[in-house]
Amino acid sequence: MSDTTTPTPGNHAAGGQSDSATSGALAPVLEVDGATKTYAGEPPVEALRGVSLTIGEGELVGIVGPSGSGKTTLLQLMGTLDRPTRGQVRVTGVDVAAMADDDLSYLRATRIGFIFQQFFLAEHDRVVENVADGLLYAGVPLKQRRQRAVEALNLVGLAERAEARPTQLSGGQRQRVAIARALVGQPAIVLADEPTGNLDQATGQSILALIDQLHQAGSTIVVITHDHTIAERMPRKVEILDGQIVADTGPAGPADQRLRRNVDAYPSGLRPLEGLPASEDRP
Ligand SMILES: Nc1ncnc2c1ncn2[C@@H]1O[C@H](COP(=O)(O)OP(=O)(O)OP(=O)(O)O)[C@@H](O)[C@H]1O
Ligand SMILES: [Mg+2]
Repeated sequence: MSDTTTPTPGNHAAGGQSDSATSGALAPVLEVDGATKTYAGEPPVEALRGVSLTIGEGELVGIVGPSGSGKTTLLQLMGTLDRPTRGQVRVTGVDVAAMADDDLSYLRATRIGFIFQQFFLAEHDRVVENVADGLLYAGVPLKQRRQRAVEALNLVGLAERAEARPTQLSGGQRQRVAIARALVGQPAIVLADEPTGNLDQATGQSILALIDQLHQAGSTIVVITHDHTIAERMPRKVEILDGQIVADTGPAGPADQRLRRNVDAYPSGLRPLEGLPASEDRP
């Protein structure tokens, strides 16, 4: 492996970068530099046309744009699920361009969590197994996987449904399971593509509230949406149009960073959250 450092929360940045808590600057967790993406075809589609974006540790960023603007393409590049045609992507300082597929899979499994509109749960496996599977490729032993899965379920207010199957859960609960799965490996960054897209308004709001709380507990999260009202409530809003970033409010101000420094006192990143609406959306 070209990169074998063990990623842990609070130690994401490769190469001894300065401590964000003392310097005030946010260590970059994810950097997209001049990325283009052209899909082959007749004619070829230029889905991204020179996108540069740096996301710092602890940020909550909304990326908003209309259908076809390149949001999912950008998420796939950020999540190393696809490679840019031109330009660079660095995850926790590691340039992914030269990495072999195996190394990339390991990097993805240990440093990136995904949340999708369609949840993508294994319907026949129990909730706890779905979450524990998030640790499969990180080489965590079975017993520890289950233990950490329960902790992550506790974090999203679903510990008591650990033995249920996804088919027995509501949409909101399923998305909570998917969020627990994304978090269980304590990734450096969580990427969410339209996380409320399959949910009714009220349930969507509760998922956004959960995302807010995870951010306040120290997680770095990117939410992709076509909905401006969702992006509006994020500390940082990035607008994408026709494959280009056309607006970016930039990293949130010092108040948000102060909040971050307070939560840095919690090393695990998996402390229980208070006041979660645990079972507001039972089927
Ligand atoms: N695999 C692919 N092959 C060819 N063209 C693609 C592929 N994936 C996406 N595209 C095209 O690239 C452009 C950007 O698509 P993308 O899925 O990134 O948009 P989006 O902003 O996520 O849209 P939506 O809000 O509808 O999900 C679109 O024109 C789309 O048709
Ligand atoms: Mg999309």
